[in-house]
Amino acid sequence: MAAARRPLVAGNWKMNGLRASAAELDRIIAGFEPALAARIDLLVCPPATLIAQFAERSKGTPVLIGAQDCHFEASGAHTGDLSAEMLRDAGATAVIVGHSERRTGHGESDALVRAKAEAVLRAGLMAIVCIGESRAERDAGHTLEIARRQLADSVPQGAAPQRLVVAYEPVWAIGSGSTPAPRDITAVHEFIREELASRFGMAARLTRILYGGSVKAENASALLRSAEVDGALVGGASLKAAELLAISRAYL
Ligand code: PGA
Repeated sequence: MAAARRPLVAGNWKMNGLRASAAELDRIIAGFEPALAARIDLLVCPPATLIAQFAERSKGTPVLIGAQDCHFEASGAHTGDLSAEMLRDAGATAVIVGHSERRTGHGESDALVRAKAEAVLRAGLMAIVCIGESRAERDAGHTLEIARRQLADSVPQGAAPQRLVVAYEPVWAIGSGSTPAPRDITAVHEFIREELASRFGMAARLTRILYGGSVKAENASALLRSAEVDGALVGGASLKAAELLAISRAYL
């Protein structure tokens, strides 16, 4: 029942953007035409320093603003960290957790990712939980096994299916220009849906499953065509309004 799920295109700006980048956000807002806004959700996740400014600027428009990470506690002695509640207060409506750059660069475990996802849901926000295999794991034929383990260990048990988003991002496809074949993406997404259904039953139909990794305007329609793909998590290409909007138009 793909029709029950509204596609989501999410831009992950990573550690890019200064206050002057609001001009790029303005171009995204201006180009997110009503026909497109009627069909999909568009989310921009800038660095945390820009969330409040971007949320203010996008107020009253269909463009949503999100964050890239959070701490699992609501407040406390955690120097340098930000809680989901703080991000909500700044205007974020969603938080990405478990991105491979955090799993690898910050040693985040599935258990920590799960705690963060729980925190996002506790704060009433949308949790975008990232999973995906490395090149070596794929070459060894372990793609589905890795997906199963990461889903089991990083998706919270009590997750509200409609506020949970799973982003399938093969680590080897991120920032590399290589992508899996569309049929391989479909197969992994089908597997993820089955795994979610085994935990959440029929309600798993409400969870959106995004593909991420080298999505660009030129490959978006091929990568996003499958009914199993409910949208995209876009890194590099989301920094340019024209590219992000062109990717979004795959849904027109
Ligand atoms: P990319 O990044 O689109 O630059 O490959 C995707 C991501 O890391 O979410």
